[in-house]
Amino acid sequence: MKVLAFCGSPRQHGNTRTLVDEMARGIVEAGAECEIVDVGIMDIAPCTACEGCHRTGVCVVDDDMTPLYDKIDNADAFVFASPVYFWGPSAQFKAFLDRWFAIVHGPAGDRLNGKKAAVVAAFGDDDPATARHLIGMLETAFSYLGLESAGSLGVTADKLGEAKANTEALKEAFAFGQSLVD
Ligand SMILES: Cc1cc2nc3c(=O)[nH]c(=O)nc-3n(C[C@H](O)[C@H](O)[C@H](O)COP(=O)(O)O)c2cc1C
Repeated sequence: MKVLAFCGSPRQHGNTRTLVDEMARGIVEAGAECEIVDVGIMDIAPCTACEGCHRTGVCVVDDDMTPLYDKIDNADAFVFASPVYFWGPSAQFKAFLDRWFAIVHGPAGDRLNGKKAAVVAAFGDDDPATARHLIGMLETAFSYLGLESAGSLGVTADKLGEAKANTEALKEAFAFGQSLVD
C-alpha cells in the first residue's frame, strides 16, 4: 500500500508537518509506504476555471502540480494536512485542492473511487471546533472526489515546536497513521 501525505503549511518545520511526520512513521510501522509532499512550499497555481480538463482530463497549467497527478494515480491512500487559517485551509493548500478538479472532470473521472483519505489539522485555538469548517470541507470534498474518509486528527499547536512538545498528540498521530493501513 502506498500513502501520499500532502502538507499544506508554508512553514517547513511547522506543526502540521510534525504531525504528518509522526503519522508517516505509523504508516510505515504498519507495513505501508508513505511519501510526504510539502504542497505548502511548492509552486502550485490556483485553478483558472478554463475547463480544459473537461475535455482531456489533464490540467493545462504546467507547474509543480503536474508531476503529482501520476503520483496520485499510483497511490492507494492520502493524507490531507493543513494548518487552520481563518477556519479553513491555508491558501496554498486550497490552491492544491482545487487542482484535483482535473482528476474528476476528465474521461477517467472515477479513478479515485474507493481510495482512502484522512485529514490532519493544526490550529492555535484551544477549542478543536475551530477546525470544523476545514474538516467538513475536506470530508465533503472526499465524497465528491470518490474518496473514502478515514477520519481526522485535529491538534492545538500554535507556535513553532508546540506539536513536537505534545507527546499525546504525537502518539495520536502515530496511531492514526497505523489505522489508515489496518
Ligand atoms: C494567516 C493565519 C491564520 C490563522 N487562522 C487561525 C484560525 O482561524 N484558527 C486557529 O485556531 N488558528 C489560526 N492560525 C494559527 C495556525 O493555525 C497555527 O499557528 C498552526 O500551528 C500553524 O501550523 P504550521 O505550524 O503547520 O504552519 C492562523 C495562522 C495564520 C498565519
